[in-house]
Amino acid sequence: MITATSAEDFDLGIEITVGEAVSFPYKVVKRFLNSLSFQERASNAYWRVNSARSIVLIGMMGAGKSSVGRCLQRRTRLARFDTDEIVSSKFGLSISEIFSTHGERRFREVEAKALVELAPKGFGAIIVTGGGIVLRQENVDLLKQLGTIVWLDANEETLFERASRRSNRPLLQTEDPRTTFSEMLRARAPHYAKVADIRVDTSALTRDEIADVILSKVKELVTTRK
Ligand code: S3P
Repeated sequence: MITATSAEDFDLGIEITVGEAVSFPYKVVKRFLNSLSFQERASNAYWRVNSARSIVLIGMMGAGKSSVGRCLQRRTRLARFDTDEIVSSKFGLSISEIFSTHGERRFREVEAKALVELAPKGFGAIIVTGGGIVLRQENVDLLKQLGTIVWLDANEETLFERASRRSNRPLLQTEDPRTTFSEMLRARAPHYAKVADIRVDTSALTRDEIADVILSKVKELVTTRK
């Protein structure tokens, strides 16, 4: 597993330009390209030609999976699937409502089903998962088939502070959320470590920097595996 803690520059050896890869009128492409930074243009082009495998984000609540997933979607132009969003739309309820109405067990069943539906389809995507996805072995097996697994990690205080910013985490609605979080993290960290191809310490990084690190590490991994 590769561990990354800082943003790195992208290679400049890009084979094709975004202009050749996007089938829009020249004016539209030009306006689009002008709105991107060089780094965005370079990574965009790379991911258009090397997107057979998905990038799968795992990690604790508060790791930034959802926001980094959106950032990766924008940068790579790949489709994004978020298991929490899929489960939520299947029930027509928020995650909190699903937990309070149907219970965690039912949530986990539908979460596992959502992952089955995301089985590899010959094109890569950005896949964002809920923090507890690694708790079922069947999920872990599926995650491995989907693509490169990236564990977004951070120090415990940072994770907890981020996770408790919003009150939408049913598993933290306990008398002592801090202890609950600590216990969950202790139980889950070995699962994340076991399944991850890449670990990124996000404690001191912005989401754009995290996306930079992920894209350069995934590219490195894909290149060394060729
Ligand atoms: C959960 C994390 C949540 C969501 C559900 C359960 C968990 O997703 O799937 O509340 O078990 O850690 P996030 O990791 O996006 O908060």
